[in-house]
Amino acid sequence: MHALIVHCHPEPTAFNAALSDITHKTLRASGAQVTVSDLYAEHFDPVEGPHHYRQRADADVFAALTEQRYAGDHGTRAADVQREIDRLEAADLVVLQFPLWWHAQPAMLKGWFDRVFVYGGLYTGRRRYDAGHFRGKRALLSVTTGGPAHTFSPFGRGGPIERLLWPIHYSLHYMGFDVLAPFVAHGVQGGGIAYQDAAAFEDHLDQLKNRWAARLKRIDDSRAIPFTGWADWEDGVLACDHPQRWLG
Ligand SMILES: Cc1cc2nc3c(=O)[nH]c(=O)nc-3n(C[C@H](O)[C@H](O)[C@H](O)COP(=O)(O)O)c2cc1C
Repeated sequence: MHALIVHCHPEPTAFNAALSDITHKTLRASGAQVTVSDLYAEHFDPVEGPHHYRQRADADVFAALTEQRYAGDHGTRAADVQREIDRLEAADLVVLQFPLWWHAQPAMLKGWFDRVFVYGGLYTGRRRYDAGHFRGKRALLSVTTGGPAHTFSPFGRGGPIERLLWPIHYSLHYMGFDVLAPFVAHGVQGGGIAYQDAAAFEDHLDQLKNRWAARLKRIDDSRAIPFTGWADWEDGVLACDHPQRWLG
C-alpha cells in the first residue's frame, strides 16, 4: 500500500504533527510506503488565481475552471499542483490531518482542494461521484478540535461534527474516493483554553494518540461512508422510490 499524508498545520511541534508522525510510523510498520505533503513546510500557495497560469486560454477574463482545463491539456500546470496530483495518483490511501478552525478546515487545506482537484484533468460533468477519477482509492480525515466531544453532538454548541465535516467528505466522494469514517480527536484545546488540569490533559492526549494508532492498525477494516451515486439519482435527485429516502 502507498499512503499519502496531507499534513496541514503551521507548527511542527503541535499535536497535529504528533498525529501525523503516528500515521507515518504506524503505516510504515504495517509495510506501507508513506509520502507526506506538508503544506505549510512546503509553502503551498492555497490561493487560486491568475498568477498560477503562465499560458492562458483567455488572457482577458480569468475563469478558474477554463484555465485549469487548459493548463492540463497543454502541460502548463503549476509545478506545485502537478506535484500534489502525482502524489495523489501514487497513493492508495490519503490521510488528511488538520485542526478544526472556525468550524471547518484551515484555509490552507481548503485552497489545496481549490487548486489541486482540477477541472478537466481530475473531474468533468460525468467523471464525478462514484464515477470519479480517484475511485478505488480511500481517503480519511484525522481532525483535532478544541472543544470537547459532547459539544459536537447533534445539539452541542460546537455544531454537529457530521455536518461540519460533510463538505470535506462530500468533496472527496465527488472526486471518487471511498471516504472512511473520520478520526476526530476532541478536546485538544491549546491557546490557554483549559477544560482540565495539565496532568489530565496530557493523559487525554496520550489516549488520543493510542486510539489513533489502534485505528490505523485496523484501517483495512474501516468501512466507507455510504454516499449515494449516479444509479441512485433521477435528474440529480434521489429517486422517488429510493430506500434511503425512508431513513428519516
Ligand atoms: C483560527 C482558529 C480557529 C479555531 N476554531 C475552532 C472551532 O471552530 N472549533 C473548535 O473546537 N476549535 C477551534 N479552534 C481550536 C483548534 O481546533 C485547536 O487549537 C487545535 O485542534 C489543537 O491542535 P494543535 O495543538 O495541533 O493545533 C480554533 C483554533 C484556531 C487557531
